[in-house]
Amino acid sequence: MRMMEEMILREGVVLPGGVLKVGSFLNQLIDPELLRASGEEIARLYDGAGVTKILTVEASGIAIAASAGVAMGVPVLFAKKHRSSNVDGDILSTPVHSFTHGTDYNMVVSRDYLTGGDVCLLVDDFLANGAAMRGMIELVRLAGARLAGAAVAIEKVFQGGGDALRKEGIRVEALGKIESMENGVIRFATAD
Ligand code: G4P
Repeated sequence: MRMMEEMILREGVVLPGGVLKVGSFLNQLIDPELLRASGEEIARLYDGAGVTKILTVEASGIAIAASAGVAMGVPVLFAKKHRSSNVDGDILSTPVHSFTHGTDYNMVVSRDYLTGGDVCLLVDDFLANGAAMRGMIELVRLAGARLAGAAVAIEKVFQGGGDALRKEGIRVEALGKIESMENGVIRFATAD
């Protein structure tokens, strides 16, 4: 999506270790036009896919997921991150290791909110190694729900998480696909 790529080029800051800082438009301060357009683009991409629910994970994925939910007219469920593995109640839970942050957590949703009849679209701000995405896929599996696919604001293609999922037959859409960020220069993947 042109608006996402232009914003990344204008505002994104490449940090050491292949991390892109997007706090001025996506992760902390949120640009309203970009948010609205991102939700509409995700809705356009998944039009006709029968999506009944959007699933994301706290915290930074919630805004774009909510925008997509408004555009698609479907509810948005966000998984919570619990440090402890013994979470009480009737929940679906799966362990996730974040390579980016070097942390472990349990991704948790209430069993009542994700059910066997759901067709889920996974939405997040970033797709890097794909650990968060795989956690959400496991929650969908545990619920017995169906997976329509995934949509992310920014995919860092060079980290391989997106292509690994595509090889497994999962539809993955990215609004900004970053091929490389070597020497601070951001290059986008060209359309297939
Ligand atoms: P991982 O396997 O390296 O953990 O990557 P994954 O694709 O699962 O993304 C996990 C987390 O890493 C996400 O945040 C994502 O926002 C963040 N992330 C990955 N690469 C970048 C980057 O280049 N820049 C920024 N700003 N974030 C990045 P999270 O764990 O869900 O935490 P939160 O920020 O949403 O609270």
